[in-house]
Amino acid sequence: MGQQKVLFEAKDMFKSFGVTKALKEVKLELKSSEVLGLIGENGSGKSTLASIIAGIWAADSGSMFLEGQQYFPKNSMEANYSGICMILQEKSTFDHLSAANNIFIGAEKRFVKAGILDGRRMKREAAKVLQEIGASHISPSDMIGNLSFEDGKLVELARAVSIKPKILIVDETTTALSRTGRDILYLIMEKMKKGGNSVIFISHDIDEMVDKCDRLTVLRDGNYVDTLEKKDFSTQVIRRLMVGREISDNYYRTDSESCKNEEIVLQVKDVIAGKLDNISFSLHKGEILGFGGLADCGMHDIGRIAFGLLSTDTGEVKDAKGKKIEAPAQAMSRKIGYIAKNRDQEALMTNSPILDNICIASYDKLSKNGCILPGRENKFVDYLADQLEIKMQDSKQYVMELSGGNKQKVALAKWLGFGADILILDCPTRGIDIGIKSNLYNLMIKLKKEGKSIILISEELPEVIGMSDRVIILKNGRISGEFRREAHPTESLLIDYMV
Ligand SMILES: Nc1ncnc2c1ncn2[C@@H]1O[C@H](COP(=O)(O)OP(=O)(O)OP(=O)(O)O)[C@@H](O)[C@H]1O
Ligand SMILES: [Mg+2]
Repeated sequence: MGQQKVLFEAKDMFKSFGVTKALKEVKLELKSSEVLGLIGENGSGKSTLASIIAGIWAADSGSMFLEGQQYFPKNSMEANYSGICMILQEKSTFDHLSAANNIFIGAEKRFVKAGILDGRRMKREAAKVLQEIGASHISPSDMIGNLSFEDGKLVELARAVSIKPKILIVDETTTALSRTGRDILYLIMEKMKKGGNSVIFISHDIDEMVDKCDRLTVLRDGNYVDTLEKKDFSTQVIRRLMVGREISDNYYRTDSESCKNEEIVLQVKDVIAGKLDNISFSLHKGEILGFGGLADCGMHDIGRIAFGLLSTDTGEVKDAKGKKIEAPAQAMSRKIGYIAKNRDQEALMTNSPILDNICIASYDKLSKNGCILPGRENKFVDYLADQLEIKMQDSKQYVMELSGGNKQKVALAKWLGFGADILILDCPTRGIDIGIKSNLYNLMIKLKKEGKSIILISEELPEVIGMSDRVIILKNGRISGEFRREAHPTESLLIDYMV
């Protein structure tokens, strides 16, 4: 390790957004052939630092060196030319373009001959890159808008690989990926290292960080805290450095009894829709019902049918009184809330203030005689923002300016404030740090005790096992197994039913 040369260095980095000081004298040193983890709570400055390195933002002050030379990219294209490429935390592909066009965006010149773009050659090359990373199930002609969130991310990865970067920055991408997707990413990271290149890896999954990183740089509140060598990695130490206090290991439910309430609040019967093939289940009052499976098993469609977003080809979704749910407005009138996995596109209005995002589902209780009561609105938002510890300047701030985890909290605040009786959470802890994760789990337990019901769809098996009364595993759109809490299903047992 000691002999590895320094590939990149950032010193004295400062960056403010208005009154928010996102980076305060932060430094980072990246050696060749290493995976350097960047870890810290939501809003600690990881994406900001990564975005400056990738040419997306300019720092207010500070200096950067790539292979000993001053490095000062004016934009992300310039960073790409210098060999630095970043997979963003949020979706950054273009829906109306094909996978091939997305992979070679900004590099179209390669395929132009005599002023004409050779689209066929571009597609052939795109197919090669997709195959190289192990994502040949995606066709170069597929429009991104028709792909799943995960496949969109894989296209971004293919784009990065096609640039053959010296430094690949991966910002909170793994939680958007299934096991297969993650394996693809890990393989790319391994290959980068073998080729003498390096990776800056950002994730809230400490086990993953410990497993995949050679060193870890910790940020807290925009400050540099420390850099740990692999031999010094310990979950406890990392957590303490991140949060500044001890955090308990166990944040899942501690009881081992499943919900015994017979009262059905939602009934799904013989549904064929999207990827779902003849699905039936019922959700009980006070129950947390978990869904797990591989990426394309259809579990994300469960949330969409239950909220009336995806119409059923056959079968039906009914509420407690046996009334059909066929549209989101109907679902909301029966007090159902839904947080989609694709947060920026489906769960939030990122171009609007935090206040509007939180209040939008609750205007009936925030207005009188058709007029919105600003006082009530402000109180409502302040209370929720406080409960969820949303890190923001004030509630007028636009959601797009928030860090990833804080955006997720806004989506949650909206449905908590709405007072949903049934909450559908699709990958709710995506991008959320450990402190907030345990808050969210506690909140789920509290809601359950109050008799609310939750559908928890998640790629994280420990989370599904740790929180659910009952776990349903899907495989190829069908239910392949169902397990009650008291049966203590293990991860490996569930995986047997997934593949
Ligand atoms: N465009 C922006 N405008 C205003 N404030 C911003 C902007 N981008 C980031 N911030 C603020 O800077 C701080 C650091 O945010 P950053 O996105 O770097 O955090 P992070 O460590 O990546 O967090 P997360 O784990 O939630 O993704 C936050 O307080 C955030 O609200
Ligand atoms: Mg971030």
